[in-house]
Amino acid sequence: MNKPQLLLINGPNLNLLGLREPAVYGRETLANITAATRLHAEQRGARLLDFQSNIEGELVARLHLCHAEHITGVIINPGAYTHTSIALRDAIAAVALPCIEVHLSNIHARDTFRHTSLTAAVCTGLIAGLGARGYRLAVDALLDLQDANK
Ligand code: DQA
Repeated sequence: MNKPQLLLINGPNLNLLGLREPAVYGRETLANITAATRLHAEQRGARLLDFQSNIEGELVARLHLCHAEHITGVIINPGAYTHTSIALRDAIAAVALPCIEVHLSNIHARDTFRHTSLTAAVCTGLIAGLGARGYRLAVDALLDLQDANK
């Protein structure tokens, strides 16, 4: 049995975590969050690849590589593209892999324009409002679902 291979994708402005609105998003940098998420995945016997971009088309293009890279599950925080991007929604649907959408903040407790996610409906599940812990919970969700489907 090959190791599960997860892809963590972060969208626009998430490269600024640690500096960006810490009262909303916390003080941890994306590098730290990614390292903790990778360690958690490895402790559960999985590999974690990661990608961040501020450019919508690059996020779409990276999703298209999932099959060539033998990705078994995707964790995505699409940032503001959550609320605007039909292209990203279509790309998630096209790759047809288990996918967990993560938001650090509780998007439903914020501005009304954040209450709608265009991407969540094509994801397996959604985690919001639990901070960086949400990424680790997404790893658990993907690996538990894969175990349950064996
Ligand atoms: C976010 C929520 C989005 O509304 C916002 O545009 C982000 C971050 C979150 O992780 O809470 O960039 O996805």
